[in-house]
Amino acid sequence: QQCNLAGWWKNDLGSKMQVFNVDNKGDFSGMYHTAVSSTQKPIKPSPLRGSQHLDGDDKCTFGFVVNWKSFSDSTAVFVGQCFTDDKEREVLQTAWLLREKVDNLDNDWKATRSGHNVFTRVNPDE
Ligand code: BTN
Repeated sequence: QQCNLAGWWKNDLGSKMQVFNVDNKGDFSGMYHTAVSSTQKPIKPSPLRGSQHLDGDDKCTFGFVVNWKSFSDSTAVFVGQCFTDDKEREVLQTAWLLREKVDNLDNDWKATRSGHNVFTRVNPDE
C-alpha cells in the first residue's frame, strides 16, 4: 500500500483541503478551505503547495505551505505523516506553524502560532 495525498481531506477543526494530482516527484498543489481564522475577513479557499515522499509503504512524510492571500496576510506550513488506522482508514498526523504579519521587529516574538491537526479522507460531496 502506497500513500497518495491526492483527494479531499478533513481535519479535527472541520477544515477541508483538496490535493490535486501528485506528480512523479511527489510535488502537489491544492486548495485549503479553513473552518477557522484569526482574522475578521470572510474566509476564502486558499492555495497550497507541497511535496510528499513516494515510499513504497503507507507511512510517507510530507509538507505543504498555505498562502491565505485572499483574506489574510499570514502564511501556514504543515508537516506530517500518513498512517493507516485499525479500520484501514488513512490518517494524516500533522503539525503546523502559522506566521502572522506584525508591524515591526519588536512584535516578532508573538508572530508564530503552532498546533496539531489530524486529517482523514472524505468524499468530495460530504
Ligand atoms: C489566518 O487566520 O490568518 C488564516 C487562517 C489560518 C487557519 C489555521 S492554519 C492552522 C489551523 N488549521 C486549520 O485547519 N486552520 C487553522
